[in-house]
Amino acid sequence: MEICSRGLGSGRAWIAHGLLAVAAIAAAGYAFRRKSSHFRSRAVGIIPARYKSSRFEGKPLAQILGKPMIQRTWERAKLAVTLDHVVVATDDEKIAECCRGFGADVIMTSESCQNGTERCNEALQKLKKKYDIVVNIQGDEPLIEPEIIDGVVKALQRAPDAVFSTAVTSLKPEDGFDPNRVKCVVDKHGYAIYFSRGLIPYNKSGEVNPKFPYLLHLGIQSYDSKFLRIYPQLPPTLLQLEEDLEQLKVLENGYKMKVIKVDHDAHGIDTPADVEKIEALMRERNIS
Ligand SMILES: *[C@@H]1O[C@H](CO)[C@@H](O)[C@H](O)[C@H]1NC(C)=O
Ligand SMILES: *[C@@H]1O[C@H](CO)[C@@H](O)[C@H](O)[C@H]1NC(C)=O
Repeated sequence: MEICSRGLGSGRAWIAHGLLAVAAIAAAGYAFRRKSSHFRSRAVGIIPARYKSSRFEGKPLAQILGKPMIQRTWERAKLAVTLDHVVVATDDEKIAECCRGFGADVIMTSESCQNGTERCNEALQKLKKKYDIVVNIQGDEPLIEPEIIDGVVKALQRAPDAVFSTAVTSLKPEDGFDPNRVKCVVDKHGYAIYFSRGLIPYNKSGEVNPKFPYLLHLGIQSYDSKFLRIYPQLPPTLLQLEEDLEQLKVLENGYKMKVIKVDHDAHGIDTPADVEKIEALMRERNIS
């Protein structure tokens, strides 16, 4: 009897001790996570804009129903509630002048920036205030919904292990084999697994499966600002070069990317002909 009760007592003590130890480990882990990735609260939206373009010279200044495209993008971005600040980053005086004219803050960046990401990084270094998150808002999506901008910011804030976030929408079946439409596959938790210009996942029939929810990648992306400093400097990677998709460099280096799914009709403007298309659509939808 005595032995039995003593045994029980020490058993309880062991269990209690074990629970405390588990709690202590969990608390330490929590404290570590909190410390290593403090809540990223401050976000800036940067609209990179350059004048020169092989397919469409002066694109940011193209008039869309009487307003420059860059102004339309900026006005949409200003409606995003998660952004503390919105700036245009450009190397061109004409663009800068136009943007100051409608009230935008402009950061001049060097002509040597190879791409929008580099321009965002340079602009971030030149901003006086510190930001935790940078949203790269493509200037050629004048109908971008502010809710999508807020969505990628919140996605990054809710996923402290991710350094990058972006958005996808449903792929139209007819775009399945269009290499200009980038497809994406994600894991169960909404982290990107891969991006491709080919159809992913691939159905052995060789055709688009009308029942499969394929995802189309949208251009908007947001970065952890510390990650943005190193991103342009990471050497090109094998898959990135083969697919000609910058974002693969992030995944190939083992970083996590959070992906949100949104309802959005992509109306990116690549050529002067796209301007007419978008104007027709805006008239149809009574957007002025
Ligand atoms: C492939 O697509 C067809 C429809 O086109 C679908 O019935 C099938 O389940 C898909 N997957 C496989 C493994 O065949
Ligand atoms: C942008 O350009 C730089 C320099 O050419 C390059 O290293 C980088 O991979 C490009 N893309 C991104 C997303 O940084």
